[in-house]
Amino acid sequence: MKKRFQRTGEKEMAEEKFDFDKKAATWDENPGRVQLGNDVAAAILDEKILTPEMDVLEFGCGTGLLTLRLSPLVRSVTAVDGSQGMLSVITAKIEAQGIKNIHTQLLDPSRGGILRGGYHAVISSMALHHVKETASLVEQFYNVTLPGGHLILADLDPDEGKFHGENPTVFHDGFDRKMLGDILTRAGYSSVRDKTAAVVKRPASDGSVQSFSVFLITCRKEG
Ligand SMILES: C[S@@+](CC[C@H](N)C(=O)[O-])C[C@H]1O[C@@H](n2cnc3c(N)ncnc32)[C@H](O)[C@@H]1O
Repeated sequence: MKKRFQRTGEKEMAEEKFDFDKKAATWDENPGRVQLGNDVAAAILDEKILTPEMDVLEFGCGTGLLTLRLSPLVRSVTAVDGSQGMLSVITAKIEAQGIKNIHTQLLDPSRGGILRGGYHAVISSMALHHVKETASLVEQFYNVTLPGGHLILADLDPDEGKFHGENPTVFHDGFDRKMLGDILTRAGYSSVRDKTAAVVKRPASDGSVQSFSVFLITCRKEG
C-alpha cells in the first residue's frame, strides 16, 4: 500500500470523490478504458461462470463499461459505485438502451457503506486499487456472496506506480496475485485461480512502450 495515503483525512477523501465525479462525463473517451472493459468481459466469459439465473453485484462499476457487457448474460446486475457522477453516466446508458436488469447503488465502503443482499457472483474490475482496506472490502464481498457463489476480481499486477503516476485516489500500485489470493482465502473463499485478462500498452515519455498486465482472479464460497 502507498505509505503516503495511510492517514487519509476528510479533505483527501472529498478530493477523491470529486475526482471521479469530475472525470465521469469523459471517462469513455479513452479507448484504452473501453478496450480493457472488453478484454475483462471476454476473460470473464471464458470462465463460463455466469448463467442467466444469476444475480450479480459489480463493485466500482464506473460508467458501466463492463456492466453493460455482462448484463445480457445474467438475471440482474446491481452496479455499485461511490461516485454519483459515474452512476449518472451509467444510468443514462441504461435508460437510453432500455435495459431493465441493471440497478445502480451509490455506496462507498471507505465511508462506512455496507454491501447488503446475496449474489451468485460479485465482480469488480479496476476498483480494488482505489480502496485502502483490501481485506475489509473482501470481507464485505464474502458476506454478500451466496453459498456456492463466485468472486471475480480484475486489477493490475504490481506496476511500481507507473500505471497511475501521482493519483491521490490510488492506494495500491497493483496487487501481488499470491498475496491477494491469501486475503481471499482468509476471508473464506476457496478454489482461488488466476490468469492474465489483458495487457494494456502505453507510450512512455522516453518513446518506449510500457506494458501493464491485468489479472483475473476467480474464487468460490463453498455451498
Ligand atoms: C478505474 S474506475 C473502473 C470503473 C469500471 N470498473 C471500469 O473498469 O471501467 C474505478 C471505479 O471505482 C469507483 N470507486 C473508487 N473508490 C471507490 C470506493 N471507495 N467505493 C466505491 N466505489 C469506488 C470509482 O468511482 C470508479 O468508478
